[in-house]
Amino acid sequence: MTIGFIGLGIMGGGMAANLRQKGFALVVHNRTRAKAEPLLAAGATWADTPAALARQVETVITMLAHPEAVAATATGADGFLDHLAPGALWVDCSTVNPSFSRAMAAEAHRRGVRYLEAPVTGSKAAAAEGALRFLVGGHENDLAAARPLLEAMGRQIVHVGPVGMGSAAKIVNNLVLGQLMAAFAEGVILGEALGLARQTVLDLLVEGPAGAPLLRLKGERVATDDFADPDFPLRWMHKDLHLAAQTAYEVGVALPVGAAAKEAYALAVREGLGDDDFAAIYRFLARQA
Ligand SMILES: NC(=O)c1ccc[n+]([C@@H]2O[C@H](COP(=O)([O-])OP(=O)(O)OC[C@H]3O[C@@H](n4cnc5c(N)ncnc54)[C@H](OP(=O)(O)O)[C@@H]3O)[C@@H](O)[C@H]2O)c1
Repeated sequence: MTIGFIGLGIMGGGMAANLRQKGFALVVHNRTRAKAEPLLAAGATWADTPAALARQVETVITMLAHPEAVAATATGADGFLDHLAPGALWVDCSTVNPSFSRAMAAEAHRRGVRYLEAPVTGSKAAAAEGALRFLVGGHENDLAAARPLLEAMGRQIVHVGPVGMGSAAKIVNNLVLGQLMAAFAEGVILGEALGLARQTVLDLLVEGPAGAPLLRLKGERVATDDFADPDFPLRWMHKDLHLAAQTAYEVGVALPVGAAAKEAYALAVREGLGDDDFAAIYRFLARQA
């Protein structure tokens, strides 16, 4: 079975490499072709457009930046959906909002294409190591069809419910991660202003009751002031907080703390930190403080 993979960024590159390494035949496409070179060297085939890719495969996996990129790739000019055979399967691993995911499922189903959402937790290292966790929304039969692929890219598959629930679980996760990182950064900034050594505050927070795996990981970046070569780009954390806010609006829920965090990330993007790791919210908040 040949698999089509679209979106070879930080996450998609590692995920596709794992599929290839585990023996799956791959046709790949990415907006920027250069990022496909390592996969092409490993035996994957290039498709010039998503449409050209779709004509060669029965399963397409997408790992794209945001809903707009997914919509453009699926239903835009040269999009793949119109070119998949009825009965084909589309697995979207991108982080998108639940209502968008349901809209994409409807677009797929209208064409007789099966749709599964499978956003992930775990970052660049987990993608490279095939150790992701998939939060799956969709029909059990479609998950059964996708399972060997997900197992090649991840260690845990959680079937959360029907389409929309995987995305719901994912944005809840990132709503918390985004706020946690911003709160952590503010704590360190205040501690330093009070005369505590940065490393002392980092250790205290990481090892104290507020400690979380994220803080240990990002504490290393804060300790060394190194936010380059991102695991998760700050601009996508801003995107995820936006998706959380949009989704909260759709269901009539208020997220006042999330909104404050979202705007901090918005300002950090404006300050030129969007391509850094999202731990760079520390750098932004420290400048303002
Ligand atoms: N990094 C993480 O830790 C992490 C963890 C979990 C989930 N995610 C989610 O995974 C997805 C991918 O993130 P990433 O970290 O891999 O980011 P990334 O390295 O920036 O990759 C983004 C991908 O989307 C493509 N893209 C962006 N805009 C596009 C457009 N308008 N049309 C077509 N393609 C477009 C990019 O193509 P180009 O190469 O041409 O730019 C690239 O393939 C996002 O939804 C993110 O929220 C990331």
